Amino acid sequence: MKVAMIGTGYVGLVSGVCFSDFGHDVICVDTSADKIAQLQAGIVPIYEPGLDTLMQRNAEAGRLRFTTDLRAAVDGAEAVFIAVGTPTRRGDGHADLSYVMAAAAEIAHALTGPAVIVTKSTVPVGTNRKVAEVIRATRPDAEFDVASNPEFLREGAAIDDFMRPDRVVIGLETDRARQVMSDLYRPLFLRDFPIVFTDLESAEMIKYAANGFLAVKISFINEIAALCERVGADVKAVAKGMGLDGRIGNKFLHAGPGYGGSCFPKDTQALARIGQEYGVPQRITETVITVNAEVKRRMIDKACDLCGGSFNGKTVAVLGVTFKPNTDDMREAPSLTIVPAMIGAGARVHVVDPQGRREGEHLLPGVTWFADAYAAVEGADLVMLLTEWNEFRALDLPRLAATMRLARMADFRNIYERSAVLGAGFEAYDAVGR
Ligand SMILES: NC(=O)c1ccc[n+]([C@@H]2O[C@H](COP(=O)([O-])OP(=O)(O)OC[C@H]3O[C@@H](n4cnc5c(N)ncnc54)[C@H](O)[C@@H]3O)[C@@H](O)[C@H]2O)c1
Repeated sequence: MKVAMIGTGYVGLVSGVCFSDFGHDVICVDTSADKIAQLQAGIVPIYEPGLDTLMQRNAEAGRLRFTTDLRAAVDGAEAVFIAVGTPTRRGDGHADLSYVMAAAAEIAHALTGPAVIVTKSTVPVGTNRKVAEVIRATRPDAEFDVASNPEFLREGAAIDDFMRPDRVVIGLETDRARQVMSDLYRPLFLRDFPIVFTDLESAEMIKYAANGFLAVKISFINEIAALCERVGADVKAVAKGMGLDGRIGNKFLHAGPGYGGSCFPKDTQALARIGQEYGVPQRITETVITVNAEVKRRMIDKACDLCGGSFNGKTVAVLGVTFKPNTDDMREAPSLTIVPAMIGAGARVHVVDPQGRREGEHLLPGVTWFADAYAAVEGADLVMLLTEWNEFRALDLPRLAATMRLARMADFRNIYERSAVLGAGFEAYDAVGR
């Protein structure tokens, strides 16, 4: 099947590459000429494990192409995906649909044969119908259907998530859309991965409800962690004891410095706004947003306490600044709140991150970048573990302690044990909820 993927970011690129690996003929489109030039040269513009090999294989097989020419890509495509960004709209927290609507209008002009327009971007309820309206208004003659196909992949494990999903959600209204979507996802049907067919509104709602719920889980354990610190409990033990209950599950129960990333912050904001708009406030989600902001502030206070009550003149070595490991994505990473706050309070900040530097250089002005954790901590007064990259999980603690000016550790991912850190020569250690 000929597929056009409009928007070649984290979701569009991974989806396009994976659909081509299913055997479809995929053209990925982006407005960024730079990005497309890199992709045409075989360079993957983001860090996502395994993506380069899969992209190369399918490009060489002739099933995967990249262009800035949307019209050429849409011409003759049976499925046209919209996978552009839906960031938070400045000022009011709503999802900014301007990219989606602009893409819809461009697609309308370019449509030739019958096609299904599939929205993969995370969009508020009613957006798929608006996409249909835009296309119909622009091209009353066009033969098309719409489908909602929200994406659930996680950065860092995106290919596996796409190829072996917990479920695929597809909202649609017509037999023709169902036929096209079934053909597209046939390899997953054949392997019995659950495919949930539903209506457009429910599909749109599933994505926000799922992300809202996961944000609740993270924030819940972060609040419990704060309480654990007061009562002398260990949140790791608490999370384990909770998570073994099959009704709760052990995922997303890791206390830490608050959620970040390209989805949870903006999707919880958007869900709260949708609730307000329809007169059904989503109070749990609204509270989660507040709790998450407080968690980040709490981390800054903890670090300040470790620095003896003031950051002024102190050097803090931050290990990891991306919002999670195995991605270079810095969007809404906790580091973007914590690092500037420390610099503003007079700290010098050293940073090391295996993939974060390219993005982080613009986003974290005033820090000094290092290539390796041992160099970054040399002479520092505090080492802060902010992203749990594998290479930070088995550091030589005595070596770290020996090179620091004051050996103190803020372990905001609960990687190490207090006794091991103190035993290695650190004079102070703090974690989250322990
Ligand atoms: N990143 C994730 O982990 C993830 C997971 C699930 C869902 N989503 C959702 O998927 C959507 C895309 O997210 P992303 O992280 O891939 O965004 P992104 O910012 O990485 O990529 C969006 C791309 O779309 C391009 N674009 C914008 N307008 C265009 C147009 N008119 N024509 C062609 N290209 C255009 C941009 O240049 C950019 O490259 C969002 O709605 C997001 O919420 C993201």
